Amino acid sequence: MLLSVIDDPHLRGLLDGLHAKSDGQIAEIERFRAGQATHPSTEDEIKTFRSDKLVALDRDKAELCYQLCRATDARHIVEIGTSFGVSTLYLAASVRDNIRAGGGTGMVIGTEYEPAKANAARAHFAQAGLSDLIDLREGDLRETLKRVEGPVDFMLVDIWIAMACPALELVTPHLRPGAIVICDNTARFRADYADYFAFLGSNGFRTMTLPFDGGLELSIRC
Ligand SMILES: C[S@@+](CC[C@H](N)C(=O)[O-])C[C@H]1O[C@@H](n2cnc3c(N)ncnc32)[C@H](O)[C@@H]1O
Repeated sequence: MLLSVIDDPHLRGLLDGLHAKSDGQIAEIERFRAGQATHPSTEDEIKTFRSDKLVALDRDKAELCYQLCRATDARHIVEIGTSFGVSTLYLAASVRDNIRAGGGTGMVIGTEYEPAKANAARAHFAQAGLSDLIDLREGDLRETLKRVEGPVDFMLVDIWIAMACPALELVTPHLRPGAIVICDNTARFRADYADYFAFLGSNGFRTMTLPFDGGLELSIRC
C-alpha cells in the first residue's frame, strides 16, 4: 500500500495534477536556462517565460515540510514564493491537521508578485477547501512582508535566489526560538546563496544541507 503524508484523497488528487504539470515543464525550463549562456534574454523576456511556469517544490521536499510542521505543531507559517500554490497547499494542510488534532488557530502567509499566478493559487486553495488558512500577500515581498504576525514557527524559502536573503532578513525578527527555516536548492546554487549563508551565520542559526535533489537547507533559529 502506497502511503502518503497527505491523508485527504481530494487534496492528493489536486496535488497529483499540479505536480504532473510542474514536472512536465522542467525540460523546457532547463532548455531555457541552458540557452541563457549563449543568448541571454532581457528581464522582460525572462519574466514572460516564467509567467506560466509552476516551478513547484518537489513532492518529497513538500512532504518533508508537511511532516516538520506536524511534528512541531506549527501554527504560524511564512512561505517565500507561492507561485500556483503547490507548497502552500502542503503547509496549509499541516496547519489544518494540527488544528484538528489540538484545537486553536493558525495561518500560512504566502507571497506572490505575479497576478496571474496569485489568481491561480487562490483557485487551488478554494478547490482544496483551505482558503481560510492562507493569507496570500500579492505584490513584492519586500513590501508585503513588512508586517508579519508572529511568532513564526516555520518558514519555507522557495524563490528566485536574489530574494531569499532579503526575505529571511524581514522574517527573522518574527521567528520563534527553535523555528525551522527550509530553503530549496542550496547545494546546486551554493555560490549564489552566499548572502543567505552569511546571514544565517551571523544571526544565530544552526544549519545543515539535506541530501535532496539540489540540496535542501534546514536551518534552526537558535
Ligand atoms: C519557485 S516559485 C515558488 C513555487 C512554490 N513554492 C510551489 O511549490 O509551488 C517562486 C515564485 O516566487 C515569485 N516571486 C519572485 N520574486 C518575488 C518577489 N520579489 N515577491 C513576491 N514573489 C516573488 C515568482 O513569481 C515565483 O512564482
